[in-house]
Amino acid sequence: MKFFIDTADLDEIQEAHDLGVLDGVTTNPSLCAKIGVADFEGHIAKICNMVDGDVSAEVVSTEYDEIMAEARNLANIADNVVVKVPLIKEGIKAIRSLSDEGIRTNCTLCFSATQALLAAKAGATYISPFIGRLDDISDDGMQLIADVVTIYENYGYETEVLAASIRHPMHVLESARLGADVATMPLKVIDQLMEHPLTDRGLERFLADWDSLQEELESK
Ligand code: E4P
Repeated sequence: MKFFIDTADLDEIQEAHDLGVLDGVTTNPSLCAKIGVADFEGHIAKICNMVDGDVSAEVVSTEYDEIMAEARNLANIADNVVVKVPLIKEGIKAIRSLSDEGIRTNCTLCFSATQALLAAKAGATYISPFIGRLDDISDDGMQLIADVVTIYENYGYETEVLAASIRHPMHVLESARLGADVATMPLKVIDQLMEHPLTDRGLERFLADWDSLQEELESK
């Protein structure tokens, strides 16, 4: 399973990259607004230089011609840019054309399996089902991941399932169990994946026992 970090914050990206387990980055307009990105293209270029893997950069146009122009521009920033396009009619049309042009896409804002089927048929590189936002409205985000993985397997679609809108480690665990190709998550969730109280308690005991041994040896 590939791990992407879901942020536009360069320090967070660096921290996850330094861990040695980062396969890519996803950004969106809200994440850029959160940290006050002024020069969007320059910022995406910086991220692309920091990581070897794919970096999703989202278009903000909603009409076909504008989406295409914006997407071509973003794709020119670096080889590892993946253009994020919303799952709307004009977006699906654009994904088809971008795919034909060899520009890789991440189809975002997916909330149903039929939407995911359309994105795969249009040739999207990634589909981003939003788990957390479905759970937020008492729907079942994990069921969507299960359905999309099954449908893509049934027909051999190459579109990768990118579990998005991840809120906690169980979303990552269940996505991995279901065979999602990628999980994109905030730095907080990456950190939570490695936390366990028994690890902390065990380490504390090991180090204390080691210190006792040294004291015993020194006293002899
Ligand atoms: C990633 O590509 C999505 O934009 C992101 O995971 C959305 O997460 P949120 O629902 O926490 O905003």
